[in-house]
Amino acid sequence: MSTRALPAHPRITDDPEVCQAYAADVSGLSRTPEAVARPESEQEVSDILRLCSDRGMGVTPQGLRSSTTGASVPARGIALSLERMNRVLEIDPERQIAVAEPGVVTAEFKRRVGEAGLFFPPDPTSEEECTLGGNVACNASGSRTYRYGPTRDYVRALRVVMADGTAIDVRRIGANKNAAGYFGFQNPIDLWIGSEGTLGVVTQVELDLRPHPPGSFGALAFFSDWRQAIRFVMAADASRRRGELEPRCLEFFDRHALEIIRPEAGGLRIADGAGAAIFFEEEVAPEDAAGAMERWHRAIEAAGGLADETVIAQSQAEQSELRRLRHAVPSRMNERGASAVEKGGRRVSTDFAVPLVNLPVVMEDAYRIMEELFDGFTVAYGHVGNGHPHFNLLAEDRWVLEQAEVAARQMARRAIALGGTLAAEHGIGKLKVPFYRELYPDWLYSGMRALKQTLDPKGILSPGNLFP
Ligand code: LAC
Ligand code: ZN
Repeated sequence: MSTRALPAHPRITDDPEVCQAYAADVSGLSRTPEAVARPESEQEVSDILRLCSDRGMGVTPQGLRSSTTGASVPARGIALSLERMNRVLEIDPERQIAVAEPGVVTAEFKRRVGEAGLFFPPDPTSEEECTLGGNVACNASGSRTYRYGPTRDYVRALRVVMADGTAIDVRRIGANKNAAGYFGFQNPIDLWIGSEGTLGVVTQVELDLRPHPPGSFGALAFFSDWRQAIRFVMAADASRRRGELEPRCLEFFDRHALEIIRPEAGGLRIADGAGAAIFFEEEVAPEDAAGAMERWHRAIEAAGGLADETVIAQSQAEQSELRRLRHAVPSRMNERGASAVEKGGRRVSTDFAVPLVNLPVVMEDAYRIMEELFDGFTVAYGHVGNGHPHFNLLAEDRWVLEQAEVAARQMARRAIALGGTLAAEHGIGKLKVPFYRELYPDWLYSGMRALKQTLDPKGILSPGNLFP
């Protein structure tokens, strides 16, 4: 219990029920904040931060708390929900940009720009349940990152309220050459993207858009086992580089992931005898779709897949159905993880990624590590086109949780040794802090700390994220 008085502000409440509602994200971590602030304008964010700064009170910004790492769990002090700042301020088809507040739900934003004939490519799996501000804070990505890159690539400008309440405007330097000093600081806007709420609170985002694609189709191709599916991914990527196939995503389902979606598949038939599947999408005008599908059919056949059983989704409704199935895998695993929390368990999810050339070897190693070290239910799915599969280990209680964490760390270590990263899209949050510390040499770590100290000298912003 804090002895400091809570800051008095009309948007701050310490109603216990409200506080309880802002305690958790989907990581399995939770802590009830001392109060919840729900500002409706940048001025209010600024006033609230000034009050908290005066008191040295922790402030954890939140979108819709879909983070999987505890990043939006308030370790101390108050939760600052940006959900009421949810206006799209401008959509400019001419310049292909949009300006929005941080609390806009990502999928809603995409529908709005779609009505203007524009396209916002980032597609986090949770896009119906997350916000633009959260996407910026975590540099979120999704399946279409394979073709389009992560959120960072679309952020032109931000308004940010600093720890002491000062609001600033940061704009990406547009020149395509830049030799001015250290790379990491050349484009300061990049510091906030992916900073997980530790360096400031984003109050406005200006985003780059693309023209809406002329059409698209989605498909789910089946294979006898994961090795065959991964061989297909390697071949499809090589074919993309030769300009033959043009996938915008290449997403994996292993045997257990197929088991999860089978009962939910409705009209889409999951092939009997399939031990793995690859979900892909291609953007193509309707009159060219048949030719594109024919090319895919041949590629699936060449990889030894069950080409005739491929599920093809052409209408918007069918394509949404396929994406819903993709989303069902993490959703069901989240639910199973949440029901294990009572016994000290949770879902442990890897977020490592490797250069694509090393995908087959990291998959081989990850399956072996899981088999050797973990006894519970496991599933693998996700962004294999980016060398970024998610292995999920369902720890039913605290004893198995230890096994799962050791296994996940070993996989991440292996990925790093293969030229990859431990956290490709979910960030570090609170769960991966010790591991992150261990991986960084002291000189690099103190550089990051110095930056944090400069921008947030009292350490009030998102305490516990990135740093212990
Ligand atoms: C996904 C989220 C969990 O890929 O990253 O579904
Ligand atoms: Zn993912």
